[in-house]
Amino acid sequence: MVAATQERPAAQSVGASLNVEAVSHAFDIRGTPLSVLDRVGLAVEPGGFVALLGPSGCGKSTLLRLVAGLEPPDQGLITVDGDLVEGPDPSRLLVFQDPTLYPWRTVRGNVALGLEAQGVGRAARAARIDQALGLVGLAGFADAYPHQLSGGMAQRAALARALVNEPRLLLLDEPLGKLDALTRLAMQAEILRLWQEKRFTAVLVTHDVEEALILAERVIVLGDRPAAIRAELPVDAPYPRHRDDPDLVRLRRTILEILGQTT
Ligand SMILES: Nc1ncnc2c1ncn2[C@@H]1O[C@H](COP(=O)(O)OP(=O)(O)OP(=O)(O)O)[C@@H](O)[C@H]1O
Ligand SMILES: [Mg+2]
Repeated sequence: MVAATQERPAAQSVGASLNVEAVSHAFDIRGTPLSVLDRVGLAVEPGGFVALLGPSGCGKSTLLRLVAGLEPPDQGLITVDGDLVEGPDPSRLLVFQDPTLYPWRTVRGNVALGLEAQGVGRAARAARIDQALGLVGLAGFADAYPHQLSGGMAQRAALARALVNEPRLLLLDEPLGKLDALTRLAMQAEILRLWQEKRFTAVLVTHDVEEALILAERVIVLGDRPAAIRAELPVDAPYPRHRDDPDLVRLRRTILEILGQTT
């Protein structure tokens, strides 16, 4: 029997903490460095939901790729739960801006990839895949091939492929960008529900200020390339949020001003 200790382990928090410290990154374009990130720092607490907004080409996808461990930053540190990110890991997954499904695998086969790699048995795999496909509304398309899907359905399949692994940190790079307006609203509600239920930590890149304000607890606005953080705004409105909430309308105006646009 294990002796009772004074200090109990904290209730298991599913979400991971993320720390990005002074991260700079450049790409080499035919011998000329293209500076993309300039000493970016941000922290997301376990189970937090942060949205990143910024002009096209400023470096948002690059930042998510670095956090996912797909490439190392030139300078700075990225830690998840205090551990240095040194490569990809199924506990922190990136849903890419362009869904990258294997064309020779069915939807089910694509969603199965991570579980296969982890050696999850066939029966457990099937149950988890069915559940993930149900979550994104693709239950009827498990046996379809990617070329038989619409752009939005492919994006939902890519989301299911990440969710099935039950990541502790979910990086979403404009995951709803290709969806029609109605499906987009439905999927925003789904993402919110999933996040509230699973308590993973979420970082969402979006071009849609309203989407950021409906979903995130904090919005980070990046400037032009090389991206540095221009502003961080807490969004305190309780969930579920309404687009016409005066606080959100005011925040939206502020963010658009920061982004250099006018309403
Ligand atoms: N592998 C790469 N090699 C060279 N340059 C790259 C590479 N990836 C990105 N870049 C450049 O880095 C800059 C930032 O790209 P990134 O994809 O991070 O922008 P973004 O903020 O995600 O833009 P968008 O909102 O349009 O998706 C761009 O100028 C892009 O051309
Ligand atoms: Mg991008």
